Amino acid sequence: MPVPLIDKKVFWKLFRSYIPGFQITNENQEIIYSIFRYFLQMPDFNEYGVIKNKAGLDKGLLVYGDYGVGKSTLFDAIHSIGKAIFKHTGSTQLWFPRISTVDMLTRYYEAQRDSTSNFKLEDYYRGKLYLDDLGKEDKAYNREEIIGKLLFERHRRSLKTYVTTNDNPSAIAARYGNHIGDRLPEMFNIIKWEGKSWRE
Ligand SMILES: Nc1ncnc2c1ncn2[C@@H]1O[C@H](COP(=O)(O)OP(=O)(O)OP(=O)(O)O)[C@@H](O)[C@H]1O
Ligand SMILES: [Mg+2]
Repeated sequence: MPVPLIDKKVFWKLFRSYIPGFQITNENQEIIYSIFRYFLQMPDFNEYGVIKNKAGLDKGLLVYGDYGVGKSTLFDAIHSIGKAIFKHTGSTQLWFPRISTVDMLTRYYEAQRDSTSNFKLEDYYRGKLYLDDLGKEDKAYNREEIIGKLLFERHRRSLKTYVTTNDNPSAIAARYGNHIGDRLPEMFNIIKWEGKSWRE
């Protein structure tokens, strides 16, 4: 039997209770509603046209743009809602682990020094994943770009990845290489989120 989709009213109620102070304005509403529609698996999720490449529910999301517009707050809220729904119903529709690229690299290098660490990059080569602050992690210079490798492996396995970042697709390609840049449009629904920072 197919698992029923999360009801949009249930989602909205949870969203409001998790971040009641989060304001939806004329500037951000089309982006926020498109992201909600994507997670609710509505086939017309790109009705507002915020995704300029070929939109698809089978791809992940790459949300890039200005500082402080609410990218991480929005995805953290969806992450928490997904966890709550999973606990109550067992539905994994909105369930995904989250990690920032900075934390991931810290744990990756820690694991190389500390034999008791249970961190393995390969553990992230499965399932869904939300990666915050792509490009904020230290540059690898002569070493391998771990996050580039992660993106490559996840693309190879057709896994859904959600990314929030300040870097535009060209900057991502410049850092991790054209083999990554070339894969971005088929891996992600790409959304540019501009606006002024909510940070005081
Ligand atoms: N729509 C909103 N209404 C009220 N407060 C908001 C809204 N969006 C963001 N904020 C607040 O602004 C601050 C910055 O938001 P957030 O960290 O989500 O931005 P960001 O887009 O991830 O920024 P960065 O690109 O720098 O990581 C947070 O304290 C958040 O609570
Ligand atoms: Mg952020």
